[in-house]
Amino acid sequence: MKNKIIVTGGCGYIGSHTVVELIENNYEVVILDDLSNSTEDTLERILKITGTKPTFVNIDLKDKTATKAVFKKHNDAEAVINFAAHKAVGESVQKPLMYYKNNLYSLLNTLSSQLENGIKGFIFSSSATVYGTPETLPITEENETQRPFSPYGNTKKIAEEIIDDVIKSDSKLQSISLRYFNPIGAHESGLIGELPSGVPNNLMPYITQTAVGLREKLMVYGNDYPTKDGTPIRDYIHVVDLAKAHVLAVKRIIDKKQEQPFEIFNLGTGNGFSVLDIINTFEEVTNSKLNYEITERRAGDVPKLFASTKLAKEKLGWTANKNLHEMISSSWKWEQKLRNNN
Ligand code: UD1
Repeated sequence: MKNKIIVTGGCGYIGSHTVVELIENNYEVVILDDLSNSTEDTLERILKITGTKPTFVNIDLKDKTATKAVFKKHNDAEAVINFAAHKAVGESVQKPLMYYKNNLYSLLNTLSSQLENGIKGFIFSSSATVYGTPETLPITEENETQRPFSPYGNTKKIAEEIIDDVIKSDSKLQSISLRYFNPIGAHESGLIGELPSGVPNNLMPYITQTAVGLREKLMVYGNDYPTKDGTPIRDYIHVVDLAKAHVLAVKRIIDKKQEQPFEIFNLGTGNGFSVLDIINTFEEVTNSKLNYEITERRAGDVPKLFASTKLAKEKLGWTANKNLHEMISSSWKWEQKLRNNN
């Protein structure tokens, strides 16, 4: 018998890569997704990669009745991985209520429905944004969290606080929160990857869309930060490495290896790269010049962020294996396939 895992938001960017890794590690997957920022076509692509088409339920997790019903139907699941959330930082500043409603109602409905059905494992998709502007680097899980700059980021911080309170209430919930640094890259097949709706906020999709001719030029937001070349430093991590960490987190919960009922791990490589490092590596990988211009700083950007990877290594047995070259070349392969419609 395979262990069944419910993956909310499993058709999305990180969700779909995690579903592939789960299937390849012999788990049965049920995807719950409202396709608000993804397409059903992802299921066919997962089938092409793994030979298995996961069960799919088109559901809005804000709908309490529907959520309860689907968890009742799949009450033999061992754990839930929660990716379902809106994630555009700029949009969240414009529409805070939409973000709080979507990201938090769906979380509350998921937690209460899974607990009603005795499903104790819960893996939460969090973000390094909860550290705000860190005072010390590398960032360890002991670093204080701060109120994030955006409502999107704040939904991640509040969600972690909700999980913590639920666990303290003797609910039997067993949870792991994974704080991602900057996920980029795509599956080596070029069949799944990031599909930003509209104009991308994030650096990597903006670069690939510029190179492919969809955007005129990349704006580099400031070169007067206190870093080696003046552009901000981030810890970019390959999405496939990230996906593998979720499989290890599921296993840790199922095998009852947790040392506390709520554990938090940073997921990064521990290496920091500047915006210009990314541009230079992209130009190297593609052997072409990228059209870019240095402009004003973007509000809310932090000069330097990179993870301490120690805890994830010690407890989850996880380290990122893929280097920046692999991250960028896979993002590029995905973008090209996307534009050629295959
Ligand atoms: C952003 C979010 C973070 C979220 C993460 C998801 C903010 C402040 N933070 O992180 O909450 O969890 O995305 O991946 O938005 N850059 C440019 N030009 C661009 C786009 C980006 O120069 O067109 C620069 C930024 O200034 C930054 C770096 O590239 O220094 C990375 O930006 P981005 O990909 O948006 O990620 P973060 O801002 O680190």
